[in-house]
Amino acid sequence: MTAIAYPKSSHYTDLAAIYAECSGPGGLRLTEFMAEKMNLRPGVRLLDIGIEHGYQTCFLAKEYGVQVIGLDPDDDRADGLPHIEHFSRNASVWGVENQVIGLKLGVPETHFAANTFDFVHSTTTLEMVRGFFGADFYRKCLDEIYRILRPGGIFGLGEPMHLDVPIPADLSIYASGEGAGPEGWAKAFATIAETESACRTAGFEILEAAYAPDAWAWWDEFSRHDPYCKATPEGEAKIIQQDGGRWLSFGYVITRKPKPANSY
Ligand SMILES: C[S@@+](CC[C@H](N)C(=O)[O-])C[C@H]1O[C@@H](n2cnc3c(N)ncnc32)[C@H](O)[C@@H]1O
Repeated sequence: MTAIAYPKSSHYTDLAAIYAECSGPGGLRLTEFMAEKMNLRPGVRLLDIGIEHGYQTCFLAKEYGVQVIGLDPDDDRADGLPHIEHFSRNASVWGVENQVIGLKLGVPETHFAANTFDFVHSTTTLEMVRGFFGADFYRKCLDEIYRILRPGGIFGLGEPMHLDVPIPADLSIYASGEGAGPEGWAKAFATIAETESACRTAGFEILEAAYAPDAWAWWDEFSRHDPYCKATPEGEAKIIQQDGGRWLSFGYVITRKPKPANSY
């Protein structure tokens, strides 16, 4: 059961197809949620960071009429193709080839000029980067996003997070290791307050920050439809179901890069 309406993404009903192309909780619902919170409008220049196959990026181009540059530095773990090749394929399928460009790049080394983008969006990416490379690297990513966003521009960050409670005793696996799987989640995931604080330290003004009302519904959906969860039902899917929203959550922070005091 979801708590909020999704007028744009509810038309896309094939969850197996959506989760085959996306790789985090929420799929297109998450993307619609973020787009509405960021107030995206036709024609603006958006940078999307950590796009995987770019399925959600194509949704933004199609449903919100934005011009998007999508970044992903990695290759697909299943077929070895660069994610941006999948993005290009999806752009044709969605009919948005003229609105999107994919670059095999990541944060924090984007090489864009300062003050380039009206909007920056990133979901289910920076927390993984922190899990692999640590808190200093995460801060460098936020600093870079701040640098390339124009003054007055909006950055929408959505991340798997955890509630501000101790890890339940039966879920100690979360703090048992490293990497992208549940073993590394205590290292990767933060609370909403910690994430707000990191954004403030980078210079952003916080417009809105909270745990998403549908956080558990997104995780639940992910555990049922993600191809890797389906392939190993006794693995990650079972752990997510065991959690049941006691520790796992999903948070969003909508921020603005302040304009200099003497500008209009
Ligand atoms: C879990 S997927 C998230 C996909 C999608 N944004 C979503 O919300 O489901 C994270 C993506 O971030 C990419 N990634 C990893 N390191 C990155 C970096 N330093 N900068 C940008 N993207 C990165 C990975 O290749 C992967 O495709």
